[in-house]
Amino acid sequence: MARRGFTTRASGQSVVVCQGLIKTFKDFWMRDRARAVDGVTFEINRGEVFGLLGPNGSGKSTTIKVLLGLLRPTKGRVAVFGLPPSDVETKKRIGYLPEESFLYPFLNARETLDYYAKLFEIDHRTRERRIDELLDMVGLKSAQFRQVREYSKGMQRRIGLAQALINDPELLILDEPTSGLDPLGRMKVREIIQRLRNEGRTVFFSSHELGEVETVCDRVAMLHQGELKAEGRVQDLVREHQQINLEQVFLKIIGYHDSSVPNDSSIHRQAA
Ligand SMILES: Nc1ncnc2c1ncn2[C@@H]1O[C@H](COP(=O)(O)OP(=O)(O)O)[C@@H](O)[C@H]1O
Ligand SMILES: [Mg+2]
Repeated sequence: MARRGFTTRASGQSVVVCQGLIKTFKDFWMRDRARAVDGVTFEINRGEVFGLLGPNGSGKSTTIKVLLGLLRPTKGRVAVFGLPPSDVETKKRIGYLPEESFLYPFLNARETLDYYAKLFEIDHRTRERRIDELLDMVGLKSAQFRQVREYSKGMQRRIGLAQALINDPELLILDEPTSGLDPLGRMKVREIIQRLRNEGRTVFFSSHELGEVETVCDRVAMLHQGELKAEGRVQDLVREHQQINLEQVFLKIIGYHDSSVPNDSSIHRQAA
């Protein structure tokens, strides 16, 4: 079950270990084109909700892709469930929501989930039960027979979440799960994340919306230009930096001083 308020770093508890991760992208002549991730270290414990925060281009998706084994690290050590990300055994235990979900437009929600469940070789009875549960969880039961091409952005994000959960994963990796959603859609996704935590799952998600993650994360890591700028429990970071919220902590850490920026401003204004 969910265990909150971890302070221990005992490696036995670590679901994800990322040590000194560097990822550079090369150009055609194999010269370093971009250092997307620059020496990032963090660990995620079992049952935690961990937020990877930072503006656009700060290295969040690159870090996630390395953890999933979709990209190879240039340097550093990465382990998921104590194994290298390329290990097939780890994939069965992970659910992944990419930044842009690919959905087959002419399948309805039920067929979409059934298709992915079959890829995991889940038997018919379990598939039917799990699809019902997931459609309920993400609030798409009444729309389950509509083709997903008719879905709003929020509904597509929610079917993507259900798809990420189809294999009953222990670890959820969600890349910007609330991006492009209206306030109600965001709240629903936050509620789903809370629910996953209550079920004892480990949730790792990225966001550039610092304001909205405070309520949902046990711990956060803040990235800026590929570097880890801060890491810890939300309330500890706010207290240590003597700020009123995470957004202000971030602005202070990156040395952004602008008295005209109100406290509830969004960081993408700064990041633009
Ligand atoms: N395949 C790629 N080739 C070259 N540069 C890339 C590639 N993917 C990402 N980058 C660069 O790496 C940096 C971090 O990107 P990304 O990890 O997508 O950031 P975020 O997810 O935080 O918005 C950006 O400068 C981006 O342009
Ligand atoms: Mg990204």
